[in-house]
Amino acid sequence: MATDTGDPLPRFPAGFLWGVSTSAHQIEGAAELRGPSVWDVFTAEPGRVKDGSTAAVACDHYHRYPEDVALLAGLGVNAYRFSVSWPRVASPGGLDFYDRLVDELCAAGVRPVPTLFHWDLPAGLDWLERDTAARFADHVTVVADRLGDRVTKWITLNEPAEHTLLGHALGAHAPGRRLLFDALPVAHHQLLAHGLAVRALRAAGARDIGIANSHGPTWPASADPDDVAAAGFYDTLLNRLFAEPVLLGAYPDGLGELMPGDVAADLRVIAEPLDWYGVNYYAPTRVGAPLGTRSEFGGLAIPAELPFSVREIGGRALTDFGWPVVPEGLTELLCGFRDRYGDRLPPIVITENGCSYEGLDDQERIAYLDAHLRALHAALEAGVDVRGYFVWSLLDNFEWAEGYARRFGLVHVDHDTLERTPKASYRWFRDVLRAQG
Ligand code: FCB
Repeated sequence: MATDTGDPLPRFPAGFLWGVSTSAHQIEGAAELRGPSVWDVFTAEPGRVKDGSTAAVACDHYHRYPEDVALLAGLGVNAYRFSVSWPRVASPGGLDFYDRLVDELCAAGVRPVPTLFHWDLPAGLDWLERDTAARFADHVTVVADRLGDRVTKWITLNEPAEHTLLGHALGAHAPGRRLLFDALPVAHHQLLAHGLAVRALRAAGARDIGIANSHGPTWPASADPDDVAAAGFYDTLLNRLFAEPVLLGAYPDGLGELMPGDVAADLRVIAEPLDWYGVNYYAPTRVGAPLGTRSEFGGLAIPAELPFSVREIGGRALTDFGWPVVPEGLTELLCGFRDRYGDRLPPIVITENGCSYEGLDDQERIAYLDAHLRALHAALEAGVDVRGYFVWSLLDNFEWAEGYARRFGLVHVDHDTLERTPKASYRWFRDVLRAQG
């Protein structure tokens, strides 16, 4: 991989949002002070999480949030994306925690940007049930009523694509179902929940609302028509299925016919106008025709019966997770979205971008972030309206089915002592933010 060139980064527009992202289940701990989520149930099942760990303590952010907010202030970010745990909000005293956190952030001059759902569904609820969407809207109203006097920027859902695919189609994440295409209602009900949440937030007076969808370019494995068709299908499933109902009010390629309920009426809810559109970017995916055997992607097994296979992107450095480092994929993605959706695309915020590497002197992370910021700037120069960038993540944390083995943080966390130690990348990002003013 190209290393940090040492040249100063180009200037980003005034008012640009500079932040870091986390999520409740991955950092909070204090699991005994809230009801269980599907992730607690899942991690209790043997063999689900690679290192056998749980998020019962995680980074103990619930108790150590003042120290973590001080780290944010020291970094110099002007925004912090965190998530509000639905099971915690539903537990006695749970909202008090977010009240304290938001106060602490405001006092430190860091703008709170909560995500209202980041995969930790209360145990007992199920996205296969339509009613879960209405229950989510109630949760959103409760949170907005309590925090809306200080929180002005909101994110409805995090990555409904991954929650559908990994959690319900392939069974690699909670709730561990392996429904393959029968998981499509899970996508529809989350999208409906998103639309209902936008309405609930508007009713509470919110004027700055987005979603955090994960996207990446899909590269056909070759020019062979079968590979091109398979890649097109994958692009529809992972990108268009989650972008187009929100941006255009329509499902792509007849997928709407496979969805439950009064889909036309639901799409009017799902397409409630947004103030901005959040993109989580990690890497492109190279896709070809099915191989008749299972394929693998970053440790994830793709079953043979799917109508595509995931292939290696050769010649690229890999992060410790095995994800290829392809910064220009971010420029390609954003310019592609602009070309595809034109004036239906609201301003974009990169709500996640980052990499897992070991070590305190994490020069690879610095090179990764440096290269991705240059790629983001190239999209700006090409005319894409980008308003912010959030690094995943502030802290090394509980990386879902990988447990604590993947370290995405700018700050190292010793998972025995819970001691926080800023890495070289923390100091590098702080200097970037100072230089950007
Ligand atoms: C994203 C998730 C986030 C984190 C990063 C590495 O898909 O939204 O919680 O796990 O990947």
